[in-house]
Amino acid sequence: MDEDDAYKVLLELNSKPLGLLGLVQIAGCSSLAAYTVWALLLMPGFRKVPLKLQVPYIPANTQQVSNVMRLLKGRSGKMVDLGSGDGRIVLEAVRQGFHPAVGYELNPWLVRLSSLYAWKAGYHRQVSYQCKDLWKVKLNDCGNISVFLAPSVLPLLESKLLAELPDGARVVAGRFPLPTWMPSDIIGEGSNRAWAYDIKSVREAVKSKQKTEI
Ligand SMILES: C[S@@+](CC[C@H](N)C(=O)[O-])C[C@H]1O[C@@H](n2cnc3c(N)ncnc32)[C@H](O)[C@@H]1O
Repeated sequence: MDEDDAYKVLLELNSKPLGLLGLVQIAGCSSLAAYTVWALLLMPGFRKVPLKLQVPYIPANTQQVSNVMRLLKGRSGKMVDLGSGDGRIVLEAVRQGFHPAVGYELNPWLVRLSSLYAWKAGYHRQVSYQCKDLWKVKLNDCGNISVFLAPSVLPLLESKLLAELPDGARVVAGRFPLPTWMPSDIIGEGSNRAWAYDIKSVREAVKSKQKTEI
């Protein structure tokens, strides 16, 4: 086929209407491409997590990180971010003196990125980013927790935190409050709002509610 023939074929293809089959093919290819990006880059490691427990990566903004730290001011010891994304909250926690500072994150790309940022900031020895399912880690020795997760997983998270955290622990939730707990402190507005919960008070409230229900 010479250049003229090729040009004619292209013109012919261009002038033909797409038709239903063409549209279906384009939609199919686009969906496959989107799924590949999602599966390989954004959600690897999530295959074993039930769909209703999957939370997408939406990093906290500067104000949200700062609000978490304000609600943890004056505290010390172990700090854990559940679903740590690119590690920004853990990195700020270590800057504020929390030790150890740990991030649990299922997406291995984000775990690598977190380590890179920590290394660039000169804190790689003080932080620990672990590629683990947050539902499978034990939190019995953790005094400070932050969570930026989706509302759909928060009822289950309440049960896990209540069962595992020590009395002195404080949980800070960003973007969405824990659905049935009474916060000890709230700061920020709109999507920057953050809620702090002291586990001892939450436990007492849950116990007294159970008593009145009997
Ligand atoms: C909304 S992002 C928050 C990221 C980070 N905490 C921040 O505020 O910048 C939620 C993160 O949780 C992670 N995640 C979701 N389910 C998880 C699970 N079961 N175990 C570990 N990480 C999880 C996601 O990959 C995502 O990076």
